[in-house]
Amino acid sequence: MTDRYAVFGNPIGHSKSPRIHALFAAQTGQDISYQAILAERDGFAAAVNAFIDAGEGLARGANVTVPFKEEAFRLATRRTARAEAAGAVNTLSFEAGAIVGDNTDGAGLVRDLKNNLGCDPAGRRILLLGAGGAARGVILPLLLEGPTELVIANRTEETAARLALEFANSFARLPGCAVGVKPDGMGFQGLAGRQFDLVINATSAGLSGDTLSLPACVFGPRCVAYEMVYGRETAFMAQAREARARVADGLGMLVEQAAEAFFIWRGVRPHTAPVLAALAKVS
Ligand code: ATR
Repeated sequence: MTDRYAVFGNPIGHSKSPRIHALFAAQTGQDISYQAILAERDGFAAAVNAFIDAGEGLARGANVTVPFKEEAFRLATRRTARAEAAGAVNTLSFEAGAIVGDNTDGAGLVRDLKNNLGCDPAGRRILLLGAGGAARGVILPLLLEGPTELVIANRTEETAARLALEFANSFARLPGCAVGVKPDGMGFQGLAGRQFDLVINATSAGLSGDTLSLPACVFGPRCVAYEMVYGRETAFMAQAREARARVADGLGMLVEQAAEAFFIWRGVRPHTAPVLAALAKVS
């Protein structure tokens, strides 16, 4: 019997996940099905339970995207440390009597940086822009790589300060999560005169076409500028190019977070380069 997987979101029509997982399955010879499911905004848990109960073949897992990652966190009966730190779940595994919640977004970002972009976060000064769910999801995995500095800067200063403090005080003490650097939180104005080696845009400004009021100095020499949004040239990417930074969008993170989920589910790590190349051709 074919094991069943799905991605839940609203909207979901745009999702590249079914294509990515079909390519992974073909490459690794795994017999799985993977479908996109549109859940009602107030019907996430019901949709997941219906998926578990229905169909031929065992429902083994699911990915979760906007706006259900926090609800998936609550639905999980057990959570990994990185899911706890993220406060959100993007990968569910259905085990006998349990729903295990994980978050592969941060691992996906780190793998894209290290393996595809040759930009190891270790020893780098990192600036993370934004203090919402997307930013929160990558803080712990970045800290675990050993940067020399991690500054969280946000339009609303208090949110960044609170998030930095939370990680400095609590998550850094989770078992297996010993980290050397304490993150710092500030507003964009606090960035004047500061320089970084890696600048990651985790705000949603790219989706609304807004420009961030960043001083150009943040893009240090040989800086890598990473935009989590993919499929479009955002104002952040234009700002970074202007400042001579090397620019990447979030397509690699999308493929790598999927590969990490596939590995959790199937115990096999797919090669991401051919999948990334196939997607880049059409995006
Ligand atoms: P997500 O889950 O995608 O992170 P979110 O939780 O709504 O979404 O957070 C959006 C983030 O983008 C926040 O950090 C937000 O800044 P505020 O906390 O000040 O709202 C940031 N953001 C959104 N639009 C922005 C803009 N035009 N300029 C700067 N920051 C913006």
